Amino acid sequence: MAVDNSADNSAGNSAANSVESAVRGTARQSVSVIGLGDMGTALATALLAAGHQVTVWNRTARKADGLVEKGARRAESPAAAIAASEVVLVCILDYADVAPLLAADGAGAALKGRVVVNVTNGSPAEARALADRVSDLGAEYLDGGIMAVPDLIGKPSAFVLYSGAKDAFERSRGVLDSFARSVYLGTDPGLAPLNDLALLSGMYGMFGGFLHAAALMRSADRNVTAFTREVLMPWLRAMAENQLPAMAAQVDSGDYGVTGSNLAMQVSHDAIGDASRAQGVSTELFDPLWELMKRRVADGHGQESIGGVLELLHPRERRA
Ligand SMILES: NC(=O)c1ccc[n+]([C@@H]2O[C@H](COP(=O)([O-])OP(=O)(O)OC[C@H]3O[C@@H](n4cnc5c(N)ncnc54)[C@H](OP(=O)(O)O)[C@@H]3O)[C@@H](O)[C@H]2O)c1
Repeated sequence: MAVDNSADNSAGNSAANSVESAVRGTARQSVSVIGLGDMGTALATALLAAGHQVTVWNRTARKADGLVEKGARRAESPAAAIAASEVVLVCILDYADVAPLLAADGAGAALKGRVVVNVTNGSPAEARALADRVSDLGAEYLDGGIMAVPDLIGKPSAFVLYSGAKDAFERSRGVLDSFARSVYLGTDPGLAPLNDLALLSGMYGMFGGFLHAAALMRSADRNVTAFTREVLMPWLRAMAENQLPAMAAQVDSGDYGVTGSNLAMQVSHDAIGDASRAQGVSTELFDPLWELMKRRVADGHGQESIGGVLELLHPRERRA
């Protein structure tokens, strides 16, 4: 699946093939997994289940034992793992450690002709720099952002964002579609981490909102589980579906004309802050957004929507 989320594409792509249907009919390939932490182990397990020839390497060798029992081949070094397979999947903790690992003890020479798929979390700039190094060594590079936790790997909700060499992506689909739905974003290797980090930003905003809401409920001795299931989740779903597409269109157009709830109305009275303080709940999470909303009103945009706060984070004139 390919997605164009460049600034002039507002349609997006919401197709949601199940992993099972994506895997069906895909060719078996050889794949090496370097890094067998929680995520790397989940990826290797799904690859074995899909019938691929899987070679594994981990810095702490004993973590490979369970996978070897399930049929994986053990590599004695990163170079041996790279030499063993067409596709080399790297999943370690820090992006900064990936390049040295791919250069150590003969690994660089083994890379020629390989497809390196690095799903270690990093930044767009790190992805572009690594893509250059890998291609200098004669390999093709794909950067990946895993949008799942280990338990969800192989399940229909899991997807992975990819960017980089398009031909390599197409040739590696048999492997990639084995553990999650594959979403290709474009040839710039920085696109996957950019989108990944933006999605995580949205997630942490939601988690922050949840934490403040839960603190308010607990401070009144209310059951947070029932509150979350019965009212918070329906409310957040409705807000996401009703508000986010309209706000996104406003950001793209720069027209923050209000459609129901103007910003001045929203900051007319600090009800959330007052109630929180009265109940002994810290407003540390809520304060930064509240201050930005007030500043936007003070700047003369009270009759616009909350979407205009984005102009305080990244003014439109700064667009690339
Ligand atoms: N877990 C998630 O929910 C999740 C979701 C999306 C993306 N990710 C990304 O997936 C990557 C791995 O996450 P994880 O959950 O698997 O982490 P983890 O369980 O902490 O495992 C970290 C892995 O990195 C290896 N490692 C660390 N430093 C290394 C080095 N200098 N050289 C070689 N290997 C090294 C570790 O080897 P040792 O066993 O020898 O320590 C281990 O295999 C991260 O970039 C993370 O952001 C994780």
